[in-house]
Amino acid sequence: MARSLMQRCLAVLALAAIVSADRFSDQFGLVGSGGDVQVKDDGNTQEVALIMNRGSGGAGFSSKDKYLYGEFSVQMKLIGGNSAGTVTSLYLTSGEGDGHDEIDIEFCGNLSGDPYMMNTNVWASGDGKKEHQFYLWFDPTADFHTYKIVWNPKNIIFQVDDVPVRTFKKYDDLPYPSSKPMTVHATLWDGSFWATRKGAIKIDWNQAPFVVNYRAYSSNGCVNNGGSSACPAGSNAWMNRELNTKELGTVAWAEKNYMSYNYCADGWRFPQGFPAECSRD
Ligand SMILES: *[C@@H]1O[C@H](CO)[C@@H](O)[C@H](O)[C@H]1NC(C)=O
Repeated sequence: MARSLMQRCLAVLALAAIVSADRFSDQFGLVGSGGDVQVKDDGNTQEVALIMNRGSGGAGFSSKDKYLYGEFSVQMKLIGGNSAGTVTSLYLTSGEGDGHDEIDIEFCGNLSGDPYMMNTNVWASGDGKKEHQFYLWFDPTADFHTYKIVWNPKNIIFQVDDVPVRTFKKYDDLPYPSSKPMTVHATLWDGSFWATRKGAIKIDWNQAPFVVNYRAYSSNGCVNNGGSSACPAGSNAWMNRELNTKELGTVAWAEKNYMSYNYCADGWRFPQGFPAECSRD
């Protein structure tokens, strides 16, 4: 979570083990001071609330296992009302440091009535200026919706309620997260300095506590805690997954109707020319 926060809006993960029968506490460690992460685990349903108060510094939870490829999803219900300045995330990271890999979904809050923004990003060997940002076609604060990251040797797929909105492909000559195992994280933090209109709008602490709810966490990945990878039965379904024609259609639909930022169209940011993948198909 101490990643360089400046250019990015960060992201999240969550909790009720569907694929694995593990209890929340077996799978995750908590981040934040007592009470900031509330786990409701009746053995059947697991829900987690991340709570942020003035001075609390944010909250989160992190997987104990590391994964090298997998399919990770969670249902989230974002902060209602004035959430400007807050950042809620679901992300995978290989760790801090210059050469790290990371895959992000980050939700930047907004003023009441203004839309949440969903940032997606991929970092490979420390290079991460690859944002696609979207508004959503529903109110993400009204109900739970499912957010999913598929990460395999061919591509990374970002999916909202089973609608793929982005694919980030691997090209053999370009950086791609393919060798560093990653942990899964869900966080809620104060991103006032950069999240909402580059800091023009700060968190209104009178609205605190800010609460994000997670449920139905599912991870279906190859566990790799430093040796060989152990892939679960049935992993071929996501290990080989690429978007079909219909799914490429939903990506085009999301880009056309809901995209608010594409790094491959930001000439101001890349005066020397766009990253190479921008001109590949
Ligand atoms: C907040 O709403 C405004 C107005 O619609 C929009 O321009 C902005 O991109 C939204 N998101 C953030 C994170 O500020």
